[in-house]
Amino acid sequence: QADERESMYLVSEFAAKYFQNNLLKTELGKAIGLSYFKERGFTDETIEKFGLGYCLDEWDAFTSEAIRKGYKLDYLEKTGLTIVKGEKQFDRFKGRVMFPIQSMSGRVLGFGGRILTNDKKAAKYLNSPESEIYHKSKVLYGIYHAKQAIAKEDNCFLVEGYTDVIQFNQSGIENVVSSSGTALTPEQIRLINRLTKNITVLFDSDAAGQRASMRGVDLILEQGMNVKVCAFPEGEDPDSFAKKNTEEEIRQYLKDNSKDFINYKASLLMEEAQNDPVKKASLIRDMVSSISKIPDSIQQEVYVQETSRIMDISEDVIFRTLAQLSGGGK
Ligand code: CTP
Ligand code: MN
Ligand code: MN
Ligand code: MN
Ligand code: MN
Repeated sequence: QADERESMYLVSEFAAKYFQNNLLKTELGKAIGLSYFKERGFTDETIEKFGLGYCLDEWDAFTSEAIRKGYKLDYLEKTGLTIVKGEKQFDRFKGRVMFPIQSMSGRVLGFGGRILTNDKKAAKYLNSPESEIYHKSKVLYGIYHAKQAIAKEDNCFLVEGYTDVIQFNQSGIENVVSSSGTALTPEQIRLINRLTKNITVLFDSDAAGQRASMRGVDLILEQGMNVKVCAFPEGEDPDSFAKKNTEEEIRQYLKDNSKDFINYKASLLMEEAQNDPVKKASLIRDMVSSISKIPDSIQQEVYVQETSRIMDISEDVIFRTLAQLSGGGK
């Protein structure tokens, strides 16, 4: 079992090197993959740091090379790098630029591959399937490069995507990780919790981004951590924002716009409710449900006071709703 996992790591590490070599050394890789990353503003240093690569647009260029080098088809299939159909073998990531996903200690666990066309029928990102070495609910993209900075800054920025992590790093902000498109999980939060008690959630300005981050917030609160939320200007995500601004401007923006989750959520909900009392009641329950996730009762009380003030409702009512929630289950 341990041997099998080690073989899967080795084939994944070979793949990462092979894809990077395609990107940097082959004519097609340079013309297609490298120019794509350059267009996104990534420097050679960044491409090297994150081990970015390119999988040639051929049916089995990678798989044949791996087999020629002595890697077993069994492990190529188990890592999902190769798709086996009867006698035929295909490269899963054919024609995509590659983002290796590393563990806390820097081993390659799997990949994200981005399509280069605007073909709406194909998935923009394709990810490695679950395997013995890649459990998507337990990894955070960027954690290998972020761990020291998270501890040092005593804060972790949580973003949605691969390129958000990379662009922030290039700007000089390294305490950043991404759950990479999956809903945030308790295991992922635990990885951060070992390094800091403070998370700032940075989400894309679209509605999907906001909803997803709000769900994640409750899970972070449950682990007794402090959560701030920072929204980006219309149409921006952390990547596009960082690309347009200097490190100093980014840091200033984060400082000015990071709000404690309670203030953020309360004002968001109030905006939504306007003067509709029925809606307001249901939103207060939503708010109190978040507060009920906080394990520390003193901290809970502080949040009750804040909520009372922002939503203009008595503390008494909030405490009673809280009691109902904790008494009657959730
Ligand atoms: N994602 C995915 N599969 C998709 C779309 C998205 O796995 N079909 C994941 C990726 O990890 C992606 C993240 O969700 O990085 C955030 O999605 P999105 O904001 O749409 O992509 P960006 O990261 O902004 O990618 P890009 O800037 O390259 O368009
Ligand atoms: Mn990395
Ligand atoms: Mn998005
Ligand atoms: Mn995005
Ligand atoms: Mn983006």
